[in-house]
Amino acid sequence: MKNYCTHPKTITSEAELDATLARPYPELVNMMKHLEGDIAILGIAGKMGITLGMAAVNAIREAGVNKKVFGVSRFSDPAAADTLSTAGIEPIRCDLLDRAAVAKLPKTPNIIFMAGRKFGTGGEEDLTWAMNTIVPAHVGEAFGSSRIVAFSTGCVYPLVPVTRGGCNEDVTPDPIGEYSSSCLGRERVFAYYSRTLGTRVCLFRLNYALDLRYGVLRDIADAIWEGRPVNRSVGWFNALWQGDANNHALLALDHCTAPATPLNVTGPETASVTAVAERFGRLLDKPVTFNGDPGPVAYLNDASRAHRLFGYPRVALDTVIEWTADWIKSGGRSLGKPTHFEVSSGKF
Ligand SMILES: NC(=O)c1ccc[n+]([C@@H]2O[C@H](COP(=O)([O-])OP(=O)(O)OC[C@H]3O[C@@H](n4cnc5c(N)ncnc54)[C@H](OP(=O)(O)O)[C@@H]3O)[C@@H](O)[C@H]2O)c1
Repeated sequence: MKNYCTHPKTITSEAELDATLARPYPELVNMMKHLEGDIAILGIAGKMGITLGMAAVNAIREAGVNKKVFGVSRFSDPAAADTLSTAGIEPIRCDLLDRAAVAKLPKTPNIIFMAGRKFGTGGEEDLTWAMNTIVPAHVGEAFGSSRIVAFSTGCVYPLVPVTRGGCNEDVTPDPIGEYSSSCLGRERVFAYYSRTLGTRVCLFRLNYALDLRYGVLRDIADAIWEGRPVNRSVGWFNALWQGDANNHALLALDHCTAPATPLNVTGPETASVTAVAERFGRLLDKPVTFNGDPGPVAYLNDASRAHRLFGYPRVALDTVIEWTADWIKSGGRSLGKPTHFEVSSGKF
């Protein structure tokens, strides 16, 4: 058995980065030994889905069981389908807005639902609502007998003062703006199918996954590296290594319930934008300047329940900070998709 508590000192290539993000926990390998049926990842071709699919395939292989992993997307980037095939994931091209096409997907007992729309909401609000509420209806209708881990966001909660601590799952959602409201809509549609069809659902409220190619840390570090001021109007954040998020999402298949229950997923640290930026300044050997002062509130979530279920994330925030600084210094690629973590108006 590999030692999962050790991580590379630094990450030097995309192959090594993907392998690190796709490393399954021993608990995930164990879960694959008893999880019944195949797995389909809907909306796989985005920032997270491909390495999540790879983590599933690796866990299945290490468990020595026979199970297929399907990856469903439109494949706007056709290369993503080849990447999936090479990794042992079966790509299926499908537009999830097409109800008839969704009805024809293989009826896998395990669904990870990742499709959604955030950026570009301003001006095309109808498309965001369609993606975030009509698509879940198609999936809810087609997969009534499956377990569904439905990706959601911590932005369904209200902004809170840092002195209050993060929102746990007992806090009533109170989303700001159309995107966050449509994400609550997505949750409500899945909850409706869970209540009426008995579908087991976990509403996976994720706050900022960290890759080295995108994420809040990458956004802060890029600003410093390029000599731009760091926007700290939202002064604190929670985040977790995407490899941990991938493991938590797959492990959540074992915690799907009817009626649907929410699960906050993020790291244990309440990170200060100021302190993280200053740390990057030292690691990158660059001066740090800021735009304004931290505002009174931030999106902060308490993921204690997930930590109790799955243990603390295996990779500490400070490790990801060091990896990110090394990655940027060596010219590591960016996806060019900023998170806009500094937005508190709900407008994306
Ligand atoms: N990454 C984070 O830090 C984070 C934080 C909070 C919540 N989330 C949520 O977690 C989920 C996954 O995150 P992500 O960052 O991987 O999202 P992402 O980059 O937006 O990827 C989602 C993928 O879904 C596919 N998709 C979109 N519309 C589709 C349609 N009509 N039919 C089929 N596939 C479609 C797209 O691939 P094609 O264009 O190839 O179809 C897209 O790349 C999202 O719902 C996101 O809102 C993510």
